[in-house]
Order: sequence, then structure tokens, then C-alpha cells
Amino acid sequence: MINTSTENGVMTLSIDRQDKKNALTAAMYLELATQIKVAQEGESLRVILIRGEGDNFCAGNDLMDFLALAQSGGLSGDLSSFPPLVLLHALVDCKLPLVAVVQGAAIGIGFTMLLHCDLVVCADNVRLQTPFVDLGLVAEGGSSLLLPARVGRANAAEILLLGAPISGDRALQMGLCNSVCAAAELDTTAAMYASALAAKPAGALAASKALMQPSAEEIHKRIDEEALEFIQRLQSDEAKQALSQFFKR
Ligand code: COA
Repeated sequence: MINTSTENGVMTLSIDRQDKKNALTAAMYLELATQIKVAQEGESLRVILIRGEGDNFCAGNDLMDFLALAQSGGLSGDLSSFPPLVLLHALVDCKLPLVAVVQGAAIGIGFTMLLHCDLVVCADNVRLQTPFVDLGLVAEGGSSLLLPARVGRANAAEILLLGAPISGDRALQMGLCNSVCAAAELDTTAAMYASALAAKPAGALAASKALMQPSAEEIHKRIDEEALEFIQRLQSDEAKQALSQFFKR
């Protein structure tokens, strides 16, 4: 369900669960995290490109899994092995440049993971959204820290509190992505970014990326703090009702 391919120094990770709008399961998070770590082991890979198969990037965490977690009374293992966090921490620690290729739905963690990518290319049909509050939940993925810093408090509140859907043009205006193009041109546009990065001197690129992210420790810490609150809120009646409601539609 995560398709992997490599070409000319670019590893492409494609989220492929199209019947569920590419919603992520535990196994998919872990596979993405593993591939991100594997990509950094050798010298040959220069860039990681993350995309969704079909018409959507990713509809977020599998809500059935969240409902099961809500009903089971909480995490069975420790926080560091919770699959969404394994992926998020791997993204923060990734030394290779990350390019995201986004079309259709990019919801929940399908949106917040974009905040950890270096370049984001969106199709003009994109719908970026974080319905955390509507689901009785809170921001995750470090977004409570990263989003206000990136787009300002007012825009961040519109996204994280109101849960407003954000179009490609709006995302571009707010600095959430680098370019917006027709869906048919998306892969070509992203490939141009990826190959341009892959052609750069690898050492200088990695050092520059690290310099642009001086607060990695703070981001890791915030991801964990958000997750504790998020998992606690999953046990609330607000969350249980909202999650059940999604599957009653
Ligand atoms: N988890 C589990 N299943 C999901 C899912 C998710 N996050 N998102 C979509 N699906 C499933 C639907 O249950 C449906 O399954 P079914 O065919 O077995 O009934 C299928 O994917 C198609 O979804 P549907 O809602 O019918 O498609 P749509 O085109 O009308 O809407 C979305 C697409 C992405 C806007 C909508 O599915 C949605 O809002 N998903 C939830 C997003 C979300 O809240 N994510 C978590 C944030 S924390």
C-alpha cells in the first residue's frame, strides 16, 4: 500500500489505498517511515518525493482505527511506537529534501505532514483541511507550532480551529506550497523540482536544509505533547460521537 520506486537519485513513495481516499493505516505509516530511513542510508538517493496514487493525496489517519483506539481506552504501547508519530518523527529527522506532490484531499495528517516537507506542489483541485476540532480532537503533527509560524495566527486559526478547506491558490498565497498547476501537469512539475534538487551538491543541500530547521528538538517535543492531548481527547464523548457519525453518513 506504499509503492516505492527510485530513479535518478529520487525515491518516490506513493500512498496507495484509493478506495479509502489514501487514508493511512498503522502499517502504511510504518512503511513510509522505514522507507524514509532506508533512503538516507546509502549515498545514491538525493531526494524523497511523497505522493498519492489516484485522485487524492491522503484523507488522513484511518478513522476506523481512531474509533477503535477511542473504544479500546487508549494506547497499548508507548507513545514513541504509535505509528503516526513514528512517521512524523522520521519526517522531522529526514536529512534528504522532501518534495510533496498533492492533489485532491490532503486532510488531517495528509495536510500536517506537508509542513515537514521542503517543497510542496499542489494541483488546482486540492483541498487542504484539518477537521481536528470538528472531530473532538486537537492539532497534531507539530502543526500547532509550525502552522502559526508559517501562515500567521489568523490563518492558522482558520485552518486548525475553523477547519476551513484551503484551495491551491489560497495555499500558494499563504506560503503553504511552492506552485499550483493543473492535475495533469502535477507529476511533471514535481519531477522538475525533484530533479533540480537531485542535481545539487548533496553535502551543501543537507547542510542548508539542517540550517533551515534549527528547532527540530522543539518540533519533536510539540509532536509528542499534541499526541498526548490528541489520544486523551479520543476517549471523549465528543470524539467518539464525531467519529461514529462519519461512518453513519
Ligand atoms: N478513514 C477511513 N476511511 C476513509 C477516510 C478516513 N480518513 N476517508 C475516506 N474514507 C473512506 C470512506 O469511509 C469511504 O469508504 P466506503 O466506500 O467503504 O464507504 C471511502 O473512503 C470514500 O470516501 P467518501 O467520503 O465516500 O468520499 P468523498 O469523495 O465523498 O469524500 C473525503 C472524500 C476525503 C472528503 C471524505 O472521505 C472525508 O472527509 N474523509 C475523512 C477525512 C478526515 O476527517 N480525516 C481524518 C482527519 S484527523
